[in-house]
Amino acid sequence: MAASLTMISFLHAAVAVAVATTAGDAAAQAQLPRSELEAIFRVMADLLGDPTWPQLHPRPCTDTPWPGLQCELAPDDGRRLRATRLHFGPDVATPPCRPGARLASPALLGLPHLKTLSLLGCFVDDQAAAAVELPPELFTNTSSLEQLVLKSNPGLTGPIPATLSDLRSLRVLSLSQNGFRGEIPPELGRLAALQQLDLSYNNLTGEIPEEIGAMASLSILDLSWNSIAGEMPAALGNLRMLKKADLSYNRLAGRVPAEVGSLRELVFLDLSYNELAGPLPASMAGLGKLQYLLLQDNPIGTAVPAAVVGSLRRLQVLGLSGCNLTGPIPRGTFAALGSLTALSLDRNRLDGPIPASLAALPHLGQLNLSQNRLAGEIALPTEFVERLGRRLDVRGNDELCVGRGRYGGAQASYLGAPPCVAAGGGSGGGIGGTSSLQVEGSTGAAAMAGRGLRIHEVVGMIGGLVCHLLVLFLVFDL
Ligand SMILES: *[C@@H]1O[C@H](CO)[C@@H](O)[C@H](O)[C@H]1NC(C)=O
Ligand SMILES: *[C@@H]1O[C@H](CO)[C@@H](O)[C@H](O)[C@H]1NC(C)=O
Ligand SMILES: *[C@@H]1O[C@H](CO)[C@@H](O)[C@H](O)[C@H]1NC(C)=O
Ligand SMILES: *[C@@H]1O[C@H](CO)[C@@H](O)[C@H](O)[C@H]1NC(C)=O
Repeated sequence: MAASLTMISFLHAAVAVAVATTAGDAAAQAQLPRSELEAIFRVMADLLGDPTWPQLHPRPCTDTPWPGLQCELAPDDGRRLRATRLHFGPDVATPPCRPGARLASPALLGLPHLKTLSLLGCFVDDQAAAAVELPPELFTNTSSLEQLVLKSNPGLTGPIPATLSDLRSLRVLSLSQNGFRGEIPPELGRLAALQQLDLSYNNLTGEIPEEIGAMASLSILDLSWNSIAGEMPAALGNLRMLKKADLSYNRLAGRVPAEVGSLRELVFLDLSYNELAGPLPASMAGLGKLQYLLLQDNPIGTAVPAAVVGSLRRLQVLGLSGCNLTGPIPRGTFAALGSLTALSLDRNRLDGPIPASLAALPHLGQLNLSQNRLAGEIALPTEFVERLGRRLDVRGNDELCVGRGRYGGAQASYLGAPPCVAAGGGSGGGIGGTSSLQVEGSTGAAAMAGRGLRIHEVVGMIGGLVCHLLVLFLVFDL
């Protein structure tokens, strides 16, 4: 025991010495070129505004480091360092930037080896007078930038410069949560190496340029929370590497183009809160890897798109709330979706009964069917109703009812449906059972509504004095 502990601490010490020696050697030999050091001092003065910074960090890559700066040895010259990563954010400075901070190109252009530039929460004053724009000349074809992340800067406004397309090495472009306005420059399509494009939470308008289809390496596209209008361009279908597409909270209209069905790698598709109309293209049934399909709050206006969703076997979350869907909830459609955990069909115009088969989905933990026109007795098994608890929402369906003796009192109350007039399976009182049989046997409409019927329906359907008497009996029976 003692021997092995000694061994471990010996190893530990050896590793520590090795690291220190390497770092020491590098510090002793490698230097940041004077031009880059001066550029760093200028960037710090522009953004941080601490006049003592150069005195505190005379050798910012080695002996006097600053957490937001990273340097690397030049690959061709072991005595030269390069500034490769510059990051400002609440994790390295509070506040991350001084009031009135600015992005001046001369300083940043003095750091030609930067691979990552990130500014988080830097330009926070969104008063017009304090607005900062991205200078177009900041981006040139000699840049090494691979990641440009400018996030949560409400004071960063104006257009997205088209010159960003000169950053040929760019893999990540994230301009989320700023105040950018105007259109998405079509030139961005030239960023052939781009893997992630995030322009979410800005004030972008205009249409999605079809040039975006040329970003052959794109795997994440997020344009959500803007005011982008027009139709989804068919060229989106060229983004064969796309795994995540979020276009939610915009003003996209027209139909989803059939080409979307070519996005075979897609795992997450969010088109919610737009103005998209139905029907969905049949080709979407080919999105075999899709796990999240969110379409809520679009005027789709069709029946439940059974042919599409029924084929998406990997689906975990399906959002079809507020899609103006009509007709019944199809019985077999969801049977193949063995991974489904959440299904939202609320705020539609769905009618007919709740298919009990939904309860057979082994992972379903959230089911929202509220605010539709569903009817009949809720025939979901008690175990299912108990397991979901309040994550089962069927409220706001005037024609639904709970069978007598079904579910505990607590469940029955939050289900929000009144007791059915007739107990399911004819186990209720003699008169109730009889009336149920009579009604079911006499009209097709009653059969549609299921086994349980509410008092006012019985009145409406049969009418006449005899019926009123019957209802009186039923009321007493309850
Ligand atoms: C880079 O930009 C300069 C000036 O804008 C231009 O003259 C040059 O041809 C460009 N180089 C490449 C490889 O595009
Ligand atoms: C951007 O849009 C948001 C939400 O629509 C709005 O509150 C904000 O004032 C807009 N900002 C600018 C700079 O236009
Ligand atoms: C829903 O669809 C109907 C036609 O089926 C249409 O008249 C109505 O305007 C639509 N409602 C919405 C909110 O889109
Ligand atoms: C179900 O949907 C309705 C209407 O959209 C919503 O108000 C309710 O909060 C949802 N229920 C649950 C449990 O999420």
